[in-house]
Amino acid sequence: MIKNTVFPEGFLWGGATAANQFEGAWNVDGKGASTSDMLTGGTHTIPRKITRETIEGLNYPSHEAIDFYHRYKEDIALFAEMGFKTFRMSINWTRIFPNGNDEVPNEAELKFYDDVFAELKKYNIEPLVTISHYEMPFNLTKEYNGWASREVIDFYVNYCNVIFNRYKDVVKYWLTFNEINCGTMPLGGYLGLGILNEGTEDFTKQVDDPQIRFQALHHQFVASARAVKLGHEINPDFKIGCMLAYMSNYAYTCNPEDIILAQQKNQIANDLCGDVQVRGEYPFFAKRYFEENNIKLDITEEDKKVLKEGCVDYYTFSYYMSNCVSHDPELEGTSGNLMGGVKNPYLSASDWGWQIDPIGLRIVLNDLYGRYQIPLMIVENGLGAFDKVEEDGSINDDYRIDYLRTHINEMKEAIKDGVELIGYTPWGCIDLVSASTGEMEKRYGFIYVDKDNEGKGTLERRKKKSFDWYKKVIASNGEEL
Ligand code: BG6
Repeated sequence: MIKNTVFPEGFLWGGATAANQFEGAWNVDGKGASTSDMLTGGTHTIPRKITRETIEGLNYPSHEAIDFYHRYKEDIALFAEMGFKTFRMSINWTRIFPNGNDEVPNEAELKFYDDVFAELKKYNIEPLVTISHYEMPFNLTKEYNGWASREVIDFYVNYCNVIFNRYKDVVKYWLTFNEINCGTMPLGGYLGLGILNEGTEDFTKQVDDPQIRFQALHHQFVASARAVKLGHEINPDFKIGCMLAYMSNYAYTCNPEDIILAQQKNQIANDLCGDVQVRGEYPFFAKRYFEENNIKLDITEEDKKVLKEGCVDYYTFSYYMSNCVSHDPELEGTSGNLMGGVKNPYLSASDWGWQIDPIGLRIVLNDLYGRYQIPLMIVENGLGAFDKVEEDGSINDDYRIDYLRTHINEMKEAIKDGVELIGYTPWGCIDLVSASTGEMEKRYGFIYVDKDNEGKGTLERRKKKSFDWYKKVIASNGEEL
């Protein structure tokens, strides 16, 4: 081990995935259908569709995904070869409770995760488990309109109780919900909250009712807090964190009208969820936002107590891009970013138009640590790009190496600034299905998977140039970039 590195000893280098985007095997061994299993594949220009049942002839990318379910040994061996210290994955709720409200858990699928965790242990890779990553039993959507119903809290806590007890000796790091703050935006209605309003079919244009959406988000806050409390009772060594999609909003100009707008956007998009989960109560600015948007939340005295008792141990987030905001409506929507905004003239963008901003990551790390003073982990970051397999079989993804190198450099600066950063798991360490578009050809991996947008390919795994590069980064604890 190299001495005197900027990254602390024991830093958790690894990679990140999610069950619905890489496991496949969507209907085997008693697994039920999840919300993500009802999403069709899309492209740059054709949005994904939400169907109410699976329709013959349509392509549902989660159904096979990259078949980690049957290939986990091969994949974990490749992660180990890169030197992973940790591996972020999610448990698929519908493997354990196919309908969400079943009386007994599904033993066959509990066993699947026993096997995965045993395989990770073989290589001393610490699992980092998201309990719900953009999916829930579709039955709960049909019967309860997802998180819009308070009853779903109990089903989720029961699911947590089962997996916490089952895996209490093999999993230490947990995350309650993936990108919980996507519930502050219409796009998160179905994806994060399992809400399916009448008339919603186009995934990108969901019929939205902010009253229902924010109430559903409140139910997730309560569920998360109850899970944190329960987890600590089951094993006091558990580290249970929140996970947000960090959305950096810069003011487009120094006009105070832009600056106040950027501040307000950051408050609702980022601070609202972080404050509830880290501090255990809604922040001061929420009241006015809810009043002005005609949102009246049902928050009981018991809920307030639960939120206070279930504060998270650490804060994790995804970081892909930054955004500019302007009070000039004519500029809105020029950025190409997932969440709209104005194009930043100082930044380049990915093949999908997401604006690349490594220094922004340092800014975020400083802001977050300044606000919360608890350990931080970046559990998603990376470049979705088209990759080309050369005639000799090599894949020379220098653009991905550049993206990751510049971001890791800024992480280093933030650590020098004094930020307590404990881990880094780049997204899609193996190529997998894109959440926003359903494509396979939006690739993030160090490992290439032979499969195209239509679902065709051998599923063969192949190392990209970035594979050996990242291996060196880990071996040098971030010194050789
Ligand atoms: C995050 C999600 O928003 O971004 C992942 O947690 C997702 O599930 C990732 O895959 C990258 O986004 P996309 O749309 O390129 O897959």
